[in-house]
Amino acid sequence: MRVSKSIIAIATVAILSLAGLIAWRSQFKPSGPAPSAIGGPFQLVADNGAQVDQRILLGKWSAVYFGYSFCPDVCPTTLAALAQAIAQLGPKGRALQVVFISVDPERDTPAQLRAYLASPSFPKGAIGLTGTPDEIKSVAGAYHVYYSLHQEGSGPYSVDHTSIIYLMDPQGRFVRPLTPAAPAEMASQITQAMSEH
Ligand code: NI
Repeated sequence: MRVSKSIIAIATVAILSLAGLIAWRSQFKPSGPAPSAIGGPFQLVADNGAQVDQRILLGKWSAVYFGYSFCPDVCPTTLAALAQAIAQLGPKGRALQVVFISVDPERDTPAQLRAYLASPSFPKGAIGLTGTPDEIKSVAGAYHVYYSLHQEGSGPYSVDHTSIIYLMDPQGRFVRPLTPAAPAEMASQITQAMSEH
């Protein structure tokens, strides 16, 4: 009897987990202009020195990603994968802009971001945004992005950070996260989202 009770308990947990997953996934269904808890107003400076705000997201699809130019691994990998995904979109790729928001405003000056994003393996025309520490804190909060400076020994510090690519529609609304480091999957997620809007 104890065994069958355990099986029932396990099955119940599995069903509840599945229900939770479905509920979670349904949040990302791009069905109508449901209010989104991700994104919102911001004031930042672009890599060309211009002051910008959330209206930079209007009129184009955007892939918004938070990172920093000194990131040793995750950021370059993600940006390169995103570039490959955009290449797979063909002409539709022109409807998408990449917005890279720094979580390291001390080192990521506009000029530093511009030089970093010029890498041929990164998305062409990616826009780098940075700001004061308070501005970065505010925009990271709006996008539910965690970041934390990390010092090991006497070397340069690193920044632990959330690695999520946010797909935003041309009205600047969050649509869904993209699966990073999987270019073909990202391309199909973007294509699908574009066709449903
Ligand atoms: Ni990174």
